[in-house]
This record gives sequence, structure tokens and C-alpha cells, in this order.
Amino acid sequence: MKLLVLGSGGREHAILWSLKQTADVELDLYCAPGNAGIADIAACKPISLTDHSTLTSLVKREAIDLTIVGPEAPLADGIVDVFERNGLPIVGPSQAASRLESSKAFAKDFMARHKIPTAEYRVVRSAGEAEEILRSGAFGSAASRTVVKADGLAAGKGVIVANSRAEAEESVRMLMSGKLVGAEAARQVVIEEALFGAEASLLLFADGRDYALMPPARDHKRIGENDTGPNTGGMGAVTGPSILEAKTLQRVVSEIVEPTLAGARAEGFPFRGVLFLGLMLTAAGPKLLEYNVRMGDPETQAILIRLKTSLVEIFEAIRTGKLGDVKVEWTNDSSACVVLASQGYPAQYNVDVPIEGLDGVGLLENVTVFHAGTKRSETGELVTAGGRVLGVTARGETLERALDHCYNAVAEIKWEGMQYRRDIGKFRESPSRTSS
Ligand code: AMP
Ligand code: GLY
Repeated sequence: MKLLVLGSGGREHAILWSLKQTADVELDLYCAPGNAGIADIAACKPISLTDHSTLTSLVKREAIDLTIVGPEAPLADGIVDVFERNGLPIVGPSQAASRLESSKAFAKDFMARHKIPTAEYRVVRSAGEAEEILRSGAFGSAASRTVVKADGLAAGKGVIVANSRAEAEESVRMLMSGKLVGAEAARQVVIEEALFGAEASLLLFADGRDYALMPPARDHKRIGENDTGPNTGGMGAVTGPSILEAKTLQRVVSEIVEPTLAGARAEGFPFRGVLFLGLMLTAAGPKLLEYNVRMGDPETQAILIRLKTSLVEIFEAIRTGKLGDVKVEWTNDSSACVVLASQGYPAQYNVDVPIEGLDGVGLLENVTVFHAGTKRSETGELVTAGGRVLGVTARGETLERALDHCYNAVAEIKWEGMQYRRDIGKFRESPSRTSS
């Protein structure tokens, strides 16, 4: 069977690794564009994900049986619709369903239509409108915390937790000026009530009718220990029984998961692919912060090392609408992923720095290193090629054991300027972790 994964990060490496690891058939793996770690298990094709015609040509030429989309941008661009129009099998939500991630205003209105618990919000189209609403007291006093979000995709840079009304007004102006994120992404801005509590990510596979939950996860978005400094793509993630208690999980399923899937069906865009719920566990119960319409990075790395069922079978079942026939099973333990990043990340960072020590890590039990920003130099040496470089991932009977395995492996790896957080898996509750 020939499978193609679109993307080039740790998430995509983990998807390819898991496809191979869990398959009971021989696989021929492809990736576009991929990275140096992925190149060890898949044929990497240097094709831009915006180049739909070269991608469809590749799939036709190589007779690829199934394509899996990693990141959000190609989904928002309608790659799934393009493949389907060409009769090419692909797993991922349609462009219409991808609006749950690509437009926060659309997602919030959808949540409101389907009575899904979330923060109170208003959508504004100008700084003046924002000021009027904030000054009306709709989101509390001048000293109240509010959250300001660009409507469109912004690679994690579009959300500002403002500590006062003045800061919120300034944040709307900053977003709308196009300086923080593209002007198109901030044509509309969502203003939200600030919620307080622990965060959790719940991901699920869905085929338009049935769904299967993944183990709940939690990620660390800030660059610095104790959740300080700017947001990143994610510096680490963990899974385990402590993330979401069974009772809370049941509420999330009945109040959020099921109304979402039923709502998408009722509105004419049955959700097929991976749905990611960003949750805040507030005193008043779980609330939905956001949808993503794809796997998370680095949540995927921590989640997929616990998958026991064939991932090929799961993706095939999503495509054919037979997910209800597949029993999706996970190991009964915990897992962690610690991200190693380049010096300077998430601001400007240098690349082409030689990475040392990975051979030793290969011998460690339980540990898998997923590559994100890596490549081979002209002499074949493994060097850094991005902000997030490696995701050191391990399972353990307990979360503490999983973290020990990760950090023992991290101690073997080095490059000049390598940075990582030593407190992955240790959480404080918001607001401390979201204040900026
Ligand atoms: P989002 O991209 O919407 O998940 O927002 C990114 C991060 O901003 C979340 O993981 C939270 O830490 C924070 N955040 C978003 N919305 C809220 C909210 N209404 N109240 C408090 N924090 C929030
Ligand atoms: N780790 C969060 C995300 O992938 O959006």
C-alpha cells in the first residue's frame, strides 16, 4: 500500500512512524516535503503544499492509495476538495468543515448555534466597534481580563490575553494593523470573556458519523519554564489519566463532541478527519476554547506512541465511513514529548547547526525521537533547519516515568544553542499560564 503524508514537522514524522509501526501490511511511504528524520522511513518529495497540481500529479503518477494531511493551511486552502474532485483518496476535512479552525468567528457562531459551552464573545470589524463594546462593560470593568483573537489562521500568533480594557483595545488595533498577523487574518477580530482553569486537548478521529477518542493530552505553549515568555508552536506535550478525569471527559463528550459532530452534519459539512478540541476546565465545567481540524503538534507525538490499532486501518475507515467497525485501542499508560528548539526560537533563530548524540539515544528503551526542523548538510551531517528541531518522546507506566525516559534521552543530545523546557508535565493553572 502506498501512503502520502503532507507536511514536514514532528507531527508528520510521528504519523508516518505510527503508520509503519502499527501496519500489518507492507507500506510504501511518501512525504511532501518532509525532513531528515522522515527521509529515513519515507520518500520525501520537495513539493510546496500550496502547489495542488504538482501534488495531484505525484499521487496519480505514483498510484498513491491514500493521502493524509498534517497541517491546517492546506486544509483551509481546500486541498481535500481538490483531491476529491480528481477522484484521489485523501483523509481530512473539506474546506467548508475546515472553517471550524480557519475562522474563529465562524467557529464561535457555530458553537453558539449548537449550544456548545464556550466563552462569551463578540465579533468586531473595526477598532471603533471594539472600543464601543469593551467600554459598554459587556466584558467587565476597565480592569477585567479579556481575550482578543484574529479571526483567521495565524500560526499561534493571533491570540492575545489582555489584562485590562486598555490592553484589549490596543491589542485589537495591533491585530487590525496587520503587524502581528496578516491583515487578512485580522479583518475580523473576536473579543472573548477570559476563562480560568486547567487546559486540555481532546483529539478524535471522525468519519462524518462515528468517532473514536484519542487519549486526552496537554501541551505547553510558552517558550519559558513556568509558562513564561512568548507563545510557541508547542514546547512539549503529555498524555495520561490525570489530564481529564472520566467524569469531565463524559461531559466533554456529551456537551461538546457530540453536538459538534451532529451540528456539522446538520449544517451540511459532516466532519471527516481529526478534530482537536482546545478545552478549558473551568469551575463551571469544561468549555471549548477552539477547534483545530487536524492533529496537534507536539500532541500527536505523545498520543500516537500509545496507539495499538493499525493507523492505516483507521485512516481507511475514516475515508470509507466505516470507523464504527474499527476498535481503536491505546496502551494503558502515560506518555510525554519534550521539544528541543533552536537558539532564539520563537523569534529569529539560526539554522545549519550540527546535531550530536542521536545515535546513543537510538539505543534507549521506550524513547522515540521525532524530527521537526532537521536536514542533511551537503556532507550528509544532520543539522538544524527550523525553530522546533526534535521531539523526544517516550511512554511510561506513569507520567513521571515517561518524563524520566524523555529527559534521560535529552541529556544525550546536544547542539550549540539547543533550548528546551525542563518542566514539561508540570502544570500551573491559568490565568498564570496565559497572562502576557
Ligand atoms: P486558542 O488558539 O483559541 O486556543 O488560544 C490559544 C491560547 O490562548 C489557549 O491555549 C489559552 O491558553 C488562551 N486562551 C484562548 N481563549 C481564552 C479564553 N477565553 N480565556 C483564557 N485564555 C484563553
Ligand atoms: N500544539 C497546538 C497545536 O498544534 O495547535
